[in-house]
Amino acid sequence: MKLWGGRFTKQTNRLVEEYTASIPFDQKLFEEDIRGSLAHVRMLGECGIIRPGEAKKISEGLKTIREKIRAGKVEFSVSHEDIHMNIEKLLIEEIGPTGGKLHTGRSRNDQVALDMHLYVRARTLDLVKALTALQEVLVEKAEEHVDTILPGYTHLQRAQPVRLAHHLLAYVDMFGRDAERLKDSYKRVNTMPLGAGAIAGTTFPIRRERVAEELGFDRLYDNSMDAVSDRDYLVEFLSAASLIMVHLSRLSEELILWSSEEFGYVELDDAFCTGSSMMPQKKNPDVPELIRGKTGRVMGHWVSLMTTLKALPLTYNKDMQEDKEGVFDSVETLKGALALTAPMVAGMKVNGEKMRRNAEEGFSNATDLADYLVTKGLPFREAHEVVGRLVLTCLHEGKSLTDLTLEEYREACPLVEEDVYEKLKVENVADARNAGSGTARSRVLEVLKKKKIELDETRNWLNTVRY
Ligand code: ARG
Repeated sequence: MKLWGGRFTKQTNRLVEEYTASIPFDQKLFEEDIRGSLAHVRMLGECGIIRPGEAKKISEGLKTIREKIRAGKVEFSVSHEDIHMNIEKLLIEEIGPTGGKLHTGRSRNDQVALDMHLYVRARTLDLVKALTALQEVLVEKAEEHVDTILPGYTHLQRAQPVRLAHHLLAYVDMFGRDAERLKDSYKRVNTMPLGAGAIAGTTFPIRRERVAEELGFDRLYDNSMDAVSDRDYLVEFLSAASLIMVHLSRLSEELILWSSEEFGYVELDDAFCTGSSMMPQKKNPDVPELIRGKTGRVMGHWVSLMTTLKALPLTYNKDMQEDKEGVFDSVETLKGALALTAPMVAGMKVNGEKMRRNAEEGFSNATDLADYLVTKGLPFREAHEVVGRLVLTCLHEGKSLTDLTLEEYREACPLVEEDVYEKLKVENVADARNAGSGTARSRVLEVLKKKKIELDETRNWLNTVRY
């Protein structure tokens, strides 16, 4: 017998049951569903909508069911469609007809919205925590490599020397923005929809503030129609999740490139790589490749939900049941990617020698040589020309700018003096960028300090919010 069977004269077609059921995936929400029901039934009892004894009996029944589900002793059924009706059915079996009073003043429409708010709220905080842990690892790596110089790239061509710390700190800021985005969306995810009923509210004298307080919600929906049809908080979550994946994917891409024989900048730990079944020499960076590869599916879930919502009339439509799997899958995908990236970065070996050599050989100090000639009195346009020719000479002779003798320099431009070598050292080239957001040692050290303070602030925030 269906919980809604009264109006029907026929059994539901078995294929329809299977097609419309969400229990295969929304059983993931059983903790949230029971937590919400416990708060709801307590309020029903307190407000005299049901008798206190009944509320107590229902609470106890719900807790028993929770234990059974946790212990894996419950078999859900597609004929009860979703987690909400499966639990209600179990409750009635457990405590008898009193169980049928749980759903007073509530609909599955506000119930499912409540469950998803609770679920995504917790996952939002999990993600902020995981991002913070990754940022911490990157900050530590950056601290180890303040004095490691590599060529910074534009167009994937060597451009100007940068400190490896500076490069890593760029990622710290990307993940910092990701955490900020989640912190901001937390305000909206932490809004309680319960009390909206199916669409227009409820005739029972409920006190939803009481439920909100118990469940740790900071705000309530003002409009019942919005409460049951709003999925913006899920879109926001998927959008933030997509951007996190994009950032992880860019980092992964660099690790893949850098660990290739051609770059030779880093070596990933053996524990994070796999071999080839045919080529004995291979050590493949599967983990960053898979992170890069899985980015598309999270972005896809965001597009998919936006598409589901874009033409839906108010309020609840069954289409909305499609909001769940993409969110669940994104949570799992991100969890794995973040949990692996942190130890992979922590455990990678950096070949500072190779980085430095590439920075020196790549003429990444050519701009600085031109600037040097300008300080000696040459107009910039002429300096550019002189340096261009010197680069050409070096290219022909397989040299870098610092390999040229003073005589060779003077032949090109008599203004050059012995101090040119000091000027062209890659560290000094980097340290000349000491204004604003530049890569100078002093700036990098300041930023490192600032990032640690920001990380502390996020950790403090995590301690003040409700799960
Ligand atoms: N399983 C449904 C979902 O996930 C729950 C809400 C169903 N509401 C309804 N009126 N059929 O969206």
